[in-house]
Amino acid sequence: MDGNGRWATERGKPRVFGHVAGVQSVRAVVTECARLGLGSLTLYAFSVENWKRPPAEVRYLMRLLRAYLRRALKTLMENGVRLRCIGRLHDLPEKTLAELRRTEAKTQHNQGLVLRLALSYGGRSEIADAVRRFGEDVQAGRAHPSEVDEETLRRYLYDPETPDPDLIIRTAGEMRMSNFLLWQLSYSEFYVSPVGWPDFREEALHAAFHDYAARERRYGLVPGADASAASE
Ligand code: FPP
Repeated sequence: MDGNGRWATERGKPRVFGHVAGVQSVRAVVTECARLGLGSLTLYAFSVENWKRPPAEVRYLMRLLRAYLRRALKTLMENGVRLRCIGRLHDLPEKTLAELRRTEAKTQHNQGLVLRLALSYGGRSEIADAVRRFGEDVQAGRAHPSEVDEETLRRYLYDPETPDPDLIIRTAGEMRMSNFLLWQLSYSEFYVSPVGWPDFREEALHAAFHDYAARERRYGLVPGADASAASE
């Protein structure tokens, strides 16, 4: 969700103004994805690297997240959205984690869009944490190194049900992956929107989906081959 800081700076405001506007985009995008019938949406809300931002900005972001969760519950329920969180969640302030767990619990039986918030998240940390937990299971005699394959390792990721994304959208013209879903993105399509996150609403989302719809997904096969078999 890039571009919040720039959006605010361009308007002569402190960076946090951009994050406040960004929350409106979160509402709009989540509701539109639910309305369109998407199965899964993962928002990269806070990276492991983001802890190095000025403490006041970090505190503000955590407060914004809590406020969003409290206010969004009704809309999440109305739209059948189930909330899940991925990341080093034990790093989050107690109050924030409590609000996240409360929202996860209240939305757990919803049947529509699964909204994952990546918080204190890093793709490399996710893989490292998975390998550590597997090692612990080996040490305790619950697993054996010969079991290591892609499906076994996936079971140790933060949320094994996180699907491989069909499409990764990066806003504000950024061209980097920035440590997002490194395990899951092997064959994801990538779309860079010039629109900054605070302005990224339904129209910009539809532009990304139209672009995606015109792609041919090959999963390493030759043009015209049945790629659906490879993705299963
Ligand atoms: C990146 O923009 C944005 C973030 C690090 C935070 C995103 C958080 C929110 C939109 C609010 C809270 C989250 C939820 C899910 C309600 P940036 O600050 O790096 O902006 P820049 O790229 O212009 O510097």
